[in-house]
Amino acid sequence: MLFGPRLFQPDSEILSTLFSPSLPGFPATTVRCMICGASADGSPSVSQCAACGGLLDVAFAFDQPLARGDFSALPLATQVNSGVWRYRQLLPWFPTDQIVTRAEGFTPIYWDDRLAHFGGVGRLGLKHEGQNPTGSFKDRGMTVGVTHAKSVGATMVACASTGNTSASLASYAAAAGMSALVLIPEGKIAGGKLAQTIAHGAHIVQVEGDFDIALRMLRELTAGYPVYLVNSVNPYRVEGQKTIVIEMFEQLDWQVPDVIALPGGNLGNTAAFGKALIDLQMAGLIDRIPRLLTIQAEGASPFVDYFESGFDRYEPVTAETVATAIKIGNPASVERARRAIQFSSGMVARVTDAEIMEAKAMIDRCGIGCEPASAATLAGIRKQVALRQIGPDAHVVGVLTGHLLKDTEAVVRFHLEDAPGERSPLVNRPVSIPADMDALKRTLSNALQG
Ligand code: F0G
Repeated sequence: MLFGPRLFQPDSEILSTLFSPSLPGFPATTVRCMICGASADGSPSVSQCAACGGLLDVAFAFDQPLARGDFSALPLATQVNSGVWRYRQLLPWFPTDQIVTRAEGFTPIYWDDRLAHFGGVGRLGLKHEGQNPTGSFKDRGMTVGVTHAKSVGATMVACASTGNTSASLASYAAAAGMSALVLIPEGKIAGGKLAQTIAHGAHIVQVEGDFDIALRMLRELTAGYPVYLVNSVNPYRVEGQKTIVIEMFEQLDWQVPDVIALPGGNLGNTAAFGKALIDLQMAGLIDRIPRLLTIQAEGASPFVDYFESGFDRYEPVTAETVATAIKIGNPASVERARRAIQFSSGMVARVTDAEIMEAKAMIDRCGIGCEPASAATLAGIRKQVALRQIGPDAHVVGVLTGHLLKDTEAVVRFHLEDAPGERSPLVNRPVSIPADMDALKRTLSNALQG
């Protein structure tokens, strides 16, 4: 039998180190429910609180402030070449030989005046998380989630996914020699992501339904089987994704921007960004909190509705958007994300599919490139500037979450297939010519004329 209803058998010695790490230079950590505050006992079932069902947090007790220079000075950091584990003092502690890494992180921030002008702000940086090993920000959370899974003795790790989490999980599980189980909505994930997940050897189950159904089924399954859940309901995933913000601030020489913008789907990343700000403030590393701006696609925007009700009424929706990565109608991390937006006096906005694709074409045309969900970032900044929610002099950093090659179908549709009447000036169509020098020369003259 592939799996049966037995429990994990974690190594108790490792568990006791994980949950009482009074190691010099490292803060002690506990796992706690974000709703009722109950402590989890370090059991490997880390997706929800046993008492109330709320999501769990890794909580840090900093007995002294950290210094900004500490990260590069840490001797342990040099043993693991990773832009996530570089920040080990702000992560749950694991023995170095347990760490499953693919040298993730160290992603660039691009500054391009054309994109700042498009967004309508004075200073715009785009931190490109699509330049992680599997082409999305998920790798940052996955290195910590899979490391925890390994340290508690799991042999099978699992997720439901719109494509990027599955690609990342498949890769990290393969690197760790573990098996991976992936539930995806059938026919609804981009080709590049499916190809990665197949190639890295995950067991792939295509569910006739959407992401929300797949995640619900998987949460039910993992509650009774020894299968370790690595969706972002897992607090260790959130810890890894925190490092996007920490690395960003280091790159900015700790000049905290006014706004950090990112796309929202299942809302794990919004939750992680909020957690980063809370932990960085507690550690004494920042004294100013930037406003988070989470952007959803119009057809998948239950968090925007929730925000607009003053976080009073939350209603899941049936999701529809061209940005398949964020086609999610009932985000699992909605309460954690609410905390992040409230903590940062943040904003939540929606953009149309047309606005997403136009912003993507701009990002692509500037030589940077990203997948559609990532472009919601720039479309959302532009919208908030138009709505005067962001001032024209603001210093904004947006996060591009996935690589252009993840979803080549979207590129082809935009440039080659859309109805001619709806064509944007950014549409770029290849021309076909006979194998004839005159035809080639005519084409060149046309191109030179612009
Ligand atoms: N951008 C990309 C490229 C994504 O793949 C995702 C989520 C998001 C943004 C939204 O992040 O869910 O933390 O709010 N992708 C998940 C997946 C759901 O399964 O790959 P979120």
